[in-house]
Amino acid sequence: MKNENHTYCTMVIFGATGDLAKRKLFPSIYNLYKKGYLDEKFAVIGTARRGWSTEVFRENVEKALHDSKIEVEANVEDFLAHFDYIPMDVTTKESYQELSKLISSLEGEFHIPGNRMFYLAMAPQFFGTIASFLKSEGLTNGDGWNRLIIEKPFGHDLPSAKKLNAEIRQAFEEDEIYRIDHYLGKEMVQNIEVIRFANAMFEPLWNNRYISNIQITSSESLGVEERGGYYDKSGALRDMVQNHILQMVALLAMEPPIKLSTDEIRSEKIRALRALRPMAIDEVDEYFVRGQYGPGQIENQEVPGYRSEENINPESNTETFVAGKVLIDNFRWAGVPFYIRTGKRMAEKSTKIVIQFKDIPMNLYYKSEDEMHPNLLIIHIQPDQGISIVMNGKKLDNSKETTPVKLDYCNNCVDQQNTPEAYEKLLHDAINGDATNFTHWDEVALSWQFVDTIYQAWAEKKATDFPNYDSGTMGPKAADDLLNQDGFKWWPIADDGDYSI
Ligand code: BG6
Repeated sequence: MKNENHTYCTMVIFGATGDLAKRKLFPSIYNLYKKGYLDEKFAVIGTARRGWSTEVFRENVEKALHDSKIEVEANVEDFLAHFDYIPMDVTTKESYQELSKLISSLEGEFHIPGNRMFYLAMAPQFFGTIASFLKSEGLTNGDGWNRLIIEKPFGHDLPSAKKLNAEIRQAFEEDEIYRIDHYLGKEMVQNIEVIRFANAMFEPLWNNRYISNIQITSSESLGVEERGGYYDKSGALRDMVQNHILQMVALLAMEPPIKLSTDEIRSEKIRALRALRPMAIDEVDEYFVRGQYGPGQIENQEVPGYRSEENINPESNTETFVAGKVLIDNFRWAGVPFYIRTGKRMAEKSTKIVIQFKDIPMNLYYKSEDEMHPNLLIIHIQPDQGISIVMNGKKLDNSKETTPVKLDYCNNCVDQQNTPEAYEKLLHDAINGDATNFTHWDEVALSWQFVDTIYQAWAEKKATDFPNYDSGTMGPKAADDLLNQDGFKWWPIADDGDYSI
């Protein structure tokens, strides 16, 4: 293949007038430009239905940079000169013919060796149509590589995901498809593998002999905001669990890859997802809890319940909260529950993983408060990024009593400015042809297969107790019971949380 390793490329952004492009893509491309990763041989073509001119587009890109609060330097005009806009009706072939001409002319102008990246940042119902027109109208016949970056949702269940995959596979090979899961671009999610595979003090303990349970929480204090139309058809399980949460489960559970290549890492993640214990429909209620927020208080402000939000059916049965107990049936993890929970309008915005180790075989010390404290490894994904270890130390002035002590490593306290955003990292990877932090089709399919059973069970038995948690809380009580009945409890999510028992 010609120019396989070149990073010079034309990026075509479908949905360029949308929110994602403004909030994430333009600032990320600008940061990559400032850092010198794009050289001068690149072009960005924005397209959407709106009849904008290139000039209006550039004004909007510049505004997006200012709005995103990144530092905009004096050379922004040079950067904007790489941006062009073309209005498109993505369902007509003439639009693609015009786009094709524009790409060719920009490739000439910026000396781009025919590499093309198509970024679909728009409504998923058009993904298949766009992919097939890109092929039929010859836009994938450039002199270099082709890459398709595709945003979620990737289908809304396994059958629809399969259909979508078949459509895009007509035009792109699996290794040309970059399915975004922005959690895989987060610094501390990427750090999970390093914590596990570069530390002699963890990997030998990383199994069911030493770990009693793993807890993954991704809570949000925001409600559905303006995304009611999408969210009410989706729900928390599809929106967060099928993708972000199960990706974190896979990274925590996978076997060490034989090397750090895309294929090896992905195949270990796939093997972990294959080991997810399937549930029968009538078992779902034992393992999964759903919730929907009612009115309540967030930061001392009254907020409405889900059913009163804009674009939400006032009788909606959509879940805005999920907690679950996930079991992984393999030698390493048999018997270790992975508890997961995520929801909107919870007490605070926080994503954390807590690994709780088993108790030592016998306690030689006087019991301080109650029992000796379990050792915890806490991976702080956001808002803070870091690692904490909770261990037992000697209580001051008392040689027979222990007290939990917490060792903290804060990843972003020192150099927060330079922490690249998830999208910036993922775009950079895609330009470089590194698909490691994008999801392979098999991962998507296995995740849907797992989640579909839960939805089937929930569809058969509608929730009758919604809303069942107040905004500003940590979800319904049933989510606590899920752990309590196994003799565990959720550890706190606040960065300065009290981890004593
Ligand atoms: C998105 C979901 O994938 O992730 C949103 O669609 C959610 O509903 C968001 O708010 C959370 O991402 P982050 O990076 O803010 O934790």
